Amino acid sequence: MANTLKKLVALTGAGISAESGIKTFRDSGGLWEQYDVMEVASIGGWRKNPQLMQRFYNERRKQLSEVEPNAAHRILAELEAYFDVTVVTQNVDNLHERAQSSKILHLHGELTKARSCADSNWVLDIGYRPIEWGETAPDGSLLRPHIVWFGEAVPMIGAASETVAEADILVVVGTSLNVYPAAGLVAYAPRETPIYVVDPNDIVCPGRNVTSIREKATAGMEKLKKMLLE
Ligand code: OAD
Repeated sequence: MANTLKKLVALTGAGISAESGIKTFRDSGGLWEQYDVMEVASIGGWRKNPQLMQRFYNERRKQLSEVEPNAAHRILAELEAYFDVTVVTQNVDNLHERAQSSKILHLHGELTKARSCADSNWVLDIGYRPIEWGETAPDGSLLRPHIVWFGEAVPMIGAASETVAEADILVVVGTSLNVYPAAGLVAYAPRETPIYVVDPNDIVCPGRNVTSIREKATAGMEKLKKMLLE
């Protein structure tokens, strides 16, 4: 019989990209200290001032072109030699892709894509270029960032919860577990599945078998890799 690999699911958040130079949201000095989240990341904000939001995401996209994946992203990709790894990320950057992870599920969308305002299934790869104000999709509606905003449904949550429900090992890296439904995913892990939380701060994570690695992502993932492979 074929030797099947254990399923490792990594739930990642802004903290995994912090050492690449991308700000987190809720840390001191984080993005939500600088901006009002409802002004720049909610569907209500888009209706009120779409130009401001377009500029905000154009800046994030430009910044993404200037940073690189770090060792934590790369270790997750390397773990594919030993496990059947799926990355479920809240991040809208493409650093997991650039680090060569092969199965990635973006819960909150992707910066390098735009979509039609009228049809969420019409999605365009735009790379790192800005969306110009007034640009339209073929259906005539405005192009908007392919981001899931506060006040909108999270289309990938069903697929993500099914993935977590099959995890033999769950790794939670760099997320404050503040934003639902993403934060609720940990509760889908089978009862005995070991959960490893990599974060410099104390994260409240439900589960019977939780190991906390209080380190930044790069050092913490190095430690975790040793623990998993020894
Ligand atoms: P947060 O900013 O809420 O949390 C970042 C987490 O990363 C915190 O737990 C930090 O302690 C941790 N952290 C900071 N530096 C780190 C490092 N070097 N290594 C590892 N961890 C580090 O970010 P998220 O939980 O990802 O959604 O936020 C979730 C969602 O809220 C985002 O996807 C975004 C935001 O509003 C939308 O905009 C829709």
